[in-house]
Amino acid sequence: MRPKAELHLHIEGTLEPELVVELARRNRIELPTYDVEAIRARYSFANLQSFLDVYYENLAVLRAEQDFYDLAAAYLRRAAAQGVRHAEIFFDPQAHLSRGVPLDVVFGGLSAALKDGPLSAALILCFLRDRGPEEAEQVLRAALPYREHFIGVGLDSAEVGHPPSLFRRVFEIAGGEGLHRVAHAGEEGGPDYVWEALDVLRVERVDHGIRAMEDPQLVARLREERIPLTVCPLSNVRLRVVPSLRDHILPAMLDEGLLVTVNSDDPAYFGGYVEDNYAALRRELGLSEEQLDAIARNSFEASFAYEG
Ligand code: ADE
Ligand code: ZN
Repeated sequence: MRPKAELHLHIEGTLEPELVVELARRNRIELPTYDVEAIRARYSFANLQSFLDVYYENLAVLRAEQDFYDLAAAYLRRAAAQGVRHAEIFFDPQAHLSRGVPLDVVFGGLSAALKDGPLSAALILCFLRDRGPEEAEQVLRAALPYREHFIGVGLDSAEVGHPPSLFRRVFEIAGGEGLHRVAHAGEEGGPDYVWEALDVLRVERVDHGIRAMEDPQLVARLREERIPLTVCPLSNVRLRVVPSLRDHILPAMLDEGLLVTVNSDDPAYFGGYVEDNYAALRRELGLSEEQLDAIARNSFEASFAYEG
Protein backbone atom coordinates (compact mmCIF):
# COMPACT_ATOMS: atom_id res chain seq x y z
CA MET A 1 0.00 0.00 0.00
CA ARG A 2 1.49 3.36 -1.00
CA PRO A 3 2.26 5.55 2.04
CA LYS A 4 0.22 8.72 2.14
CA ALA A 5 -1.15 11.48 4.34
CA GLU A 6 -4.86 12.17 4.63
CA LEU A 7 -5.68 15.87 4.94
CA HIS A 8 -9.42 16.12 4.28
CA LEU A 9 -11.35 13.82 6.54
CA HIS A 10 -14.28 14.66 8.80
CA ILE A 11 -14.17 12.34 11.78
CA GLU A 12 -17.98 12.54 11.99
CA GLY A 13 -18.05 11.34 8.38
CA THR A 14 -16.41 8.07 9.38
CA LEU A 15 -19.43 7.02 11.46
CA GLU A 16 -20.28 3.70 9.77
CA PRO A 17 -23.87 2.37 10.04
CA GLU A 18 -22.61 -0.51 12.23
CA LEU A 19 -21.28 2.00 14.76
CA VAL A 20 -24.48 4.10 14.54
CA VAL A 21 -26.42 1.02 15.66
CA GLU A 22 -23.90 0.00 18.32
CA LEU A 23 -23.81 3.48 19.87
CA ALA A 24 -27.59 3.87 19.68
CA ARG A 25 -27.96 0.65 21.68
CA ARG A 26 -25.24 1.68 24.15
CA ASN A 27 -26.81 5.11 24.72
CA ARG A 28 -30.45 3.97 24.47
CA ILE A 29 -31.19 6.28 21.59
CA GLU A 30 -34.12 5.45 19.39
CA LEU A 31 -33.39 5.03 15.68
CA PRO A 32 -35.91 4.76 12.84
CA THR A 33 -34.21 1.43 12.01
CA TYR A 34 -31.48 -0.77 13.51
CA ASP A 35 -30.84 -2.50 10.19
CA VAL A 36 -27.43 -1.36 8.92
CA GLU A 37 -28.32 -2.08 5.30
CA ALA A 38 -31.49 0.03 5.63
CA ILE A 39 -29.39 2.86 7.07
CA ARG A 40 -26.87 2.54 4.24
CA ALA A 41 -29.67 2.51 1.68
CA ARG A 42 -30.49 6.11 2.66
CA TYR A 43 -27.05 7.24 1.51
CA SER A 44 -28.06 8.52 -1.88
CA PHE A 45 -27.65 12.26 -2.11
CA ALA A 46 -28.90 14.95 -4.47
CA ASN A 47 -26.39 17.57 -3.30
CA LEU A 48 -24.26 18.67 -0.33
CA GLN A 49 -27.24 19.73 1.80
CA SER A 50 -29.09 16.44 1.45
CA PHE A 51 -25.95 14.68 2.69
CA LEU A 52 -25.45 17.11 5.57
CA ASP A 53 -29.03 16.47 6.76
CA VAL A 54 -28.25 12.75 7.25
CA TYR A 55 -24.74 13.40 8.58
CA TYR A 56 -26.01 15.72 11.36
CA GLU A 57 -28.96 13.45 12.19
CA ASN A 58 -26.71 10.41 12.75
CA LEU A 59 -24.56 12.34 15.23
CA ALA A 60 -27.32 11.93 17.85
CA VAL A 61 -25.73 8.59 18.84
CA LEU A 62 -22.44 10.22 19.93
CA ARG A 63 -22.85 11.14 23.60
CA ALA A 64 -19.94 10.05 25.80
CA GLU A 65 -16.18 10.38 25.64
CA GLN A 66 -15.91 6.64 24.89
CA ASP A 67 -18.15 7.11 21.81
CA PHE A 68 -15.79 9.72 20.36
CA TYR A 69 -12.83 7.50 21.24
CA ASP A 70 -14.38 4.52 19.45
CA LEU A 71 -15.25 6.63 16.39
CA ALA A 72 -11.70 7.95 15.99
CA ALA A 73 -10.03 4.63 16.85
CA ALA A 74 -12.07 2.87 14.14
CA TYR A 75 -11.06 5.48 11.55
CA LEU A 76 -7.37 5.27 12.47
CA ARG A 77 -7.40 1.48 12.14
CA ARG A 78 -8.99 1.70 8.69
CA ALA A 79 -6.69 4.52 7.59
CA ALA A 80 -3.58 2.59 8.65
CA ALA A 81 -4.80 -0.39 6.61
CA GLN A 82 -5.07 1.97 3.61
CA GLY A 83 -1.49 3.18 3.89
CA VAL A 84 -2.14 6.42 5.79
CA ARG A 85 0.94 7.41 7.82
CA HIS A 86 -0.28 10.85 8.92
CA ALA A 87 -3.80 12.32 9.18
CA GLU A 88 -5.05 15.85 9.82
CA ILE A 89 -8.61 15.29 10.96
CA PHE A 90 -11.55 17.71 10.93
CA PHE A 91 -14.14 17.75 13.67
CA ASP A 92 -17.30 19.86 14.08
CA PRO A 93 -17.62 20.94 17.75
CA GLN A 94 -20.77 23.00 17.08
CA ALA A 95 -22.59 19.87 15.91
CA HIS A 96 -22.00 18.41 19.38
CA LEU A 97 -22.35 21.54 21.53
CA SER A 98 -25.77 22.18 20.00
CA ARG A 99 -26.87 18.71 21.21
CA GLY A 100 -25.64 19.35 24.73
CA VAL A 101 -22.35 17.43 24.40
CA PRO A 102 -19.59 19.54 26.00
CA LEU A 103 -16.18 20.22 24.46
CA ASP A 104 -14.52 18.30 27.26
CA VAL A 105 -16.20 15.09 26.08
CA VAL A 106 -15.36 15.71 22.41
CA PHE A 107 -11.70 16.62 22.97
CA GLY A 108 -11.30 13.93 25.64
CA GLY A 109 -12.42 11.09 23.40
CA LEU A 110 -10.83 12.23 20.14
CA SER A 111 -7.46 13.22 21.65
CA ALA A 112 -7.12 9.96 23.58
CA ALA A 113 -7.81 7.92 20.42
CA LEU A 114 -5.26 9.93 18.43
CA LYS A 115 -2.67 9.45 21.16
CA ASP A 116 -3.25 5.67 21.21
CA GLY A 117 -3.53 5.38 17.42
CA PRO A 118 -1.33 3.49 14.96
CA LEU A 119 -0.27 6.60 13.00
CA SER A 120 0.57 10.26 13.52
CA ALA A 121 -2.58 12.40 13.63
CA ALA A 122 -3.77 15.87 14.61
CA LEU A 123 -7.11 17.67 14.87
CA ILE A 124 -8.43 20.67 12.93
CA LEU A 125 -11.43 22.42 14.47
CA CYS A 126 -14.03 23.33 11.82
CA PHE A 127 -16.58 26.10 12.04
CA LEU A 128 -20.03 25.35 10.62
CA ARG A 129 -20.31 28.22 8.17
CA ASP A 130 -24.14 28.11 8.06
CA ARG A 131 -24.22 29.03 11.78
CA GLY A 132 -22.44 32.30 11.08
CA PRO A 133 -19.35 34.13 12.30
CA GLU A 134 -20.50 35.08 15.82
CA GLU A 135 -21.05 31.46 16.81
CA ALA A 136 -17.72 30.54 15.20
CA GLU A 137 -15.96 33.10 17.39
CA GLN A 138 -17.74 31.79 20.49
CA VAL A 139 -16.70 28.23 19.77
CA LEU A 140 -13.09 29.23 19.09
CA ARG A 141 -12.90 31.09 22.42
CA ALA A 142 -14.48 28.12 24.20
CA ALA A 143 -11.92 25.80 22.55
CA LEU A 144 -8.81 27.86 23.36
CA PRO A 145 -8.39 26.21 26.78
CA TYR A 146 -7.88 23.01 24.72
CA ARG A 147 -5.35 24.72 22.45
CA GLU A 148 -2.80 21.92 22.69
CA HIS A 149 -5.38 19.43 21.33
CA PHE A 150 -5.74 20.99 17.86
CA ILE A 151 -3.40 22.43 15.25
CA GLY A 152 -5.70 24.51 13.10
CA VAL A 153 -9.12 25.76 12.12
CA GLY A 154 -11.27 25.02 9.08
CA LEU A 155 -14.61 26.02 7.60
CA ASP A 156 -17.19 23.48 6.48
CA SER A 157 -20.93 22.69 6.10
CA ALA A 158 -23.32 24.33 3.58
CA GLU A 159 -21.09 26.45 1.32
CA VAL A 160 -23.24 28.54 -1.01
CA GLY A 161 -24.61 31.68 0.67
CA HIS A 162 -21.98 31.50 3.42
CA PRO A 163 -18.86 33.01 1.82
CA PRO A 164 -15.44 32.90 3.49
CA SER A 165 -15.24 36.69 3.88
CA LEU A 166 -17.85 36.55 6.69
CA PHE A 167 -15.29 34.71 8.82
CA ARG A 168 -12.38 37.16 8.54
CA ARG A 169 -12.27 38.00 12.24
CA VAL A 170 -12.41 34.48 13.64
CA PHE A 171 -9.66 33.37 11.25
CA GLU A 172 -7.56 36.39 12.33
CA ILE A 173 -7.98 35.39 15.97
CA ALA A 174 -7.03 31.80 15.12
CA GLY A 175 -3.95 33.00 13.24
CA GLY A 176 -2.97 35.09 16.25
CA GLU A 177 -3.08 31.92 18.34
CA GLY A 178 -0.63 30.26 15.97
CA LEU A 179 -3.29 27.97 14.50
CA HIS A 180 -3.13 26.75 10.90
CA ARG A 181 -5.95 27.87 8.59
CA VAL A 182 -7.85 25.91 5.93
CA ALA A 183 -11.34 26.24 4.43
CA HIS A 184 -13.73 24.34 2.21
CA ALA A 185 -14.09 26.46 -0.93
CA GLY A 186 -14.92 25.71 -4.53
CA GLU A 187 -16.86 22.51 -3.81
CA GLU A 188 -20.34 23.84 -4.65
CA GLY A 189 -19.27 27.50 -4.46
CA GLY A 190 -17.50 29.24 -7.34
CA PRO A 191 -13.93 30.49 -7.78
CA ASP A 192 -14.84 33.71 -5.92
CA TYR A 193 -15.08 31.64 -2.72
CA VAL A 194 -11.57 30.31 -3.30
CA TRP A 195 -10.22 33.85 -3.84
CA GLU A 196 -11.84 34.95 -0.57
CA ALA A 197 -10.46 31.97 1.33
CA LEU A 198 -6.96 32.93 0.14
CA ASP A 199 -7.16 36.72 0.39
CA VAL A 200 -9.46 37.21 3.38
CA LEU A 201 -8.94 34.10 5.52
CA ARG A 202 -5.27 33.59 4.49
CA VAL A 203 -5.78 29.84 4.27
CA GLU A 204 -2.73 27.63 3.77
CA ARG A 205 -4.72 24.90 1.96
CA VAL A 206 -8.00 24.85 0.08
CA ASP A 207 -10.39 21.97 0.78
CA HIS A 208 -11.91 20.69 -2.49
CA GLY A 209 -11.13 23.75 -4.64
CA ILE A 210 -12.12 21.98 -7.83
CA ARG A 211 -14.14 24.95 -9.14
CA ALA A 212 -10.95 27.05 -9.02
CA MET A 213 -10.33 25.48 -12.42
CA GLU A 214 -12.98 27.82 -13.87
CA ASP A 215 -10.65 30.81 -13.35
CA PRO A 216 -7.25 30.75 -15.12
CA GLN A 217 -5.86 33.59 -12.96
CA LEU A 218 -6.76 31.67 -9.84
CA VAL A 219 -5.15 28.52 -11.22
CA ALA A 220 -1.96 30.51 -11.84
CA ARG A 221 -2.02 31.83 -8.27
CA LEU A 222 -2.51 28.34 -6.79
CA ARG A 223 0.33 26.99 -8.94
CA GLU A 224 2.76 29.82 -8.24
CA GLU A 225 2.18 29.80 -4.49
CA ARG A 226 2.04 25.99 -4.33
CA ILE A 227 -1.19 26.10 -2.37
CA PRO A 228 -2.40 22.55 -1.76
CA LEU A 229 -5.88 21.44 -2.80
CA THR A 230 -7.45 18.57 -0.86
CA VAL A 231 -9.55 16.92 -3.55
CA CYS A 232 -12.11 14.21 -2.67
CA PRO A 233 -13.11 12.38 -5.88
CA LEU A 234 -15.67 9.86 -4.55
CA SER A 235 -17.28 12.61 -2.45
CA ASN A 236 -17.64 14.83 -5.52
CA VAL A 237 -19.45 12.06 -7.39
CA ARG A 238 -21.75 11.13 -4.48
CA LEU A 239 -22.67 14.78 -3.85
CA ARG A 240 -23.18 15.32 -7.59
CA VAL A 241 -20.57 18.04 -7.79
CA VAL A 242 -19.39 16.11 -10.87
CA PRO A 243 -21.59 13.81 -13.00
CA SER A 244 -19.18 10.84 -12.79
CA LEU A 245 -15.57 10.06 -11.93
CA ARG A 246 -14.77 9.99 -15.64
CA ASP A 247 -15.77 13.65 -15.81
CA HIS A 248 -13.60 14.66 -12.85
CA ILE A 249 -11.29 17.59 -13.44
CA LEU A 250 -8.45 16.13 -11.32
CA PRO A 251 -6.30 15.07 -14.32
CA ALA A 252 -6.50 18.62 -15.68
CA MET A 253 -5.49 19.94 -12.25
CA LEU A 254 -2.38 17.74 -12.40
CA ASP A 255 -1.66 18.96 -15.94
CA GLU A 256 -1.84 22.54 -14.62
CA GLY A 257 0.90 21.69 -12.12
CA LEU A 258 -1.32 22.16 -9.05
CA LEU A 259 -0.42 20.63 -5.69
CA VAL A 260 -3.28 18.11 -5.72
CA THR A 261 -3.93 15.66 -2.89
CA VAL A 262 -6.54 12.89 -2.77
CA ASN A 263 -8.71 12.32 0.30
CA SER A 264 -11.88 10.60 1.44
CA ASP A 265 -13.91 13.44 3.08
CA ASP A 266 -16.72 11.37 4.67
CA PRO A 267 -15.84 7.77 3.83
CA ALA A 268 -18.73 6.13 5.72
CA TYR A 269 -21.11 7.92 3.35
CA PHE A 270 -19.26 8.07 0.04
CA GLY A 271 -18.31 4.47 -0.63
CA GLY A 272 -14.63 4.36 0.21
CA TYR A 273 -11.63 5.30 2.31
CA VAL A 274 -8.58 7.07 0.93
CA GLU A 275 -6.91 4.23 -0.97
CA ASP A 276 -10.31 3.44 -2.49
CA ASN A 277 -10.22 6.98 -3.91
CA TYR A 278 -6.74 6.38 -5.37
CA ALA A 279 -7.89 3.04 -6.81
CA ALA A 280 -10.96 4.65 -8.38
CA LEU A 281 -8.75 7.23 -10.11
CA ARG A 282 -6.63 4.43 -11.55
CA ARG A 283 -9.68 2.44 -12.66
CA GLU A 284 -11.97 5.19 -13.95
CA LEU A 285 -9.54 7.86 -15.11
CA GLY A 286 -6.56 5.70 -16.02
CA LEU A 287 -4.13 7.50 -13.72
CA SER A 288 -0.75 5.76 -13.74
CA GLU A 289 1.06 4.41 -10.69
CA GLU A 290 3.60 7.24 -11.17
CA GLN A 291 0.83 9.84 -11.07
CA LEU A 292 -0.71 8.25 -7.97
CA ASP A 293 2.71 8.12 -6.28
CA ALA A 294 3.20 11.81 -7.08
CA ILE A 295 -0.19 12.59 -5.48
CA ALA A 296 0.84 10.62 -2.39
CA ARG A 297 4.11 12.61 -2.21
CA ASN A 298 2.06 15.81 -2.52
CA SER A 299 0.02 14.75 0.50
CA PHE A 300 3.12 14.78 2.71
CA GLU A 301 4.32 18.10 1.28
CA ALA A 302 0.86 19.59 1.87
CA SER A 303 0.64 18.39 5.47
CA PHE A 304 1.33 20.69 8.42
CA ALA A 305 3.85 18.13 9.66
CA TYR A 306 6.04 18.68 6.58
CA GLU A 307 9.42 20.26 7.20
CA GLY A 308 11.01 20.74 3.77
N1 ADE B 1 -18.98 18.46 6.30
C1 ADE B 1 -18.70 17.16 6.14
N2 ADE B 1 -18.37 16.91 4.86
C2 ADE B 1 -18.46 18.08 4.18
C3 ADE B 1 -18.25 18.48 2.85
N3 ADE B 1 -17.87 17.63 1.88
N4 ADE B 1 -18.46 19.77 2.52
C4 ADE B 1 -18.84 20.63 3.46
N5 ADE B 1 -19.05 20.31 4.73
C5 ADE B 1 -18.86 19.05 5.09
ZN1 ZN C 1 -15.10 18.05 3.59
